Amino acid sequence: MSDHEEHEGTRRDFLYYATAGAGAVATGAAVWPLVNQMNPSADVRALASIRVDVADVEPGTQITVKWLGKPVFIRRRTDEEIEAARAVDLADLPDQGAENANLGDVDASDANRALSEDGEWLVMMGVCTHLGCVPLGDAGDFGGWFCPCHGSHYDTAGRIRKGPAPTNLPVPPAEFVDETTIKLG
Ligand code: FES
Repeated sequence: MSDHEEHEGTRRDFLYYATAGAGAVATGAAVWPLVNQMNPSADVRALASIRVDVADVEPGTQITVKWLGKPVFIRRRTDEEIEAARAVDLADLPDQGAENANLGDVDASDANRALSEDGEWLVMMGVCTHLGCVPLGDAGDFGGWFCPCHGSHYDTAGRIRKGPAPTNLPVPPAEFVDETTIKLG
């Protein structure tokens, strides 16, 4: 490789990482510190189950909470988001099965992934199944989530549709314990 080519290669790498870094800054925390997942402190480990008040979550928005040291997305979906998710043919999904802590081994239909029967509430681990970045909400080619690290697009049910991530965003154990409280774990 000539000096020139070497220089170009270095420059490309730099640009690539700079772009990923800009994404991380824009989101606040696109890259969840790995150390957080691998060495949860005692107080985090103790919170195997948490309750989240979702009374103030407006339709079309989401909150991110920390559970077992990892981000969890709790989204209150609009009718359009639900319809878009339910209109998808399962055959079009790269990952048609689902890691679903509530229902076991089920297909990745939207009805199986949503927490509430009407589909309004969706709860998922906020960790890209490629290499663990935190995807951005309201983003990507399918109107759901987009992971800026290497370009994975998830739909409005958190199912991988395009990019390197191999599987859908996992559904953690979750349930409504009253009208406005979701229990995780
Ligand atoms: S970590 Fe999300 S695309 Fe690579």
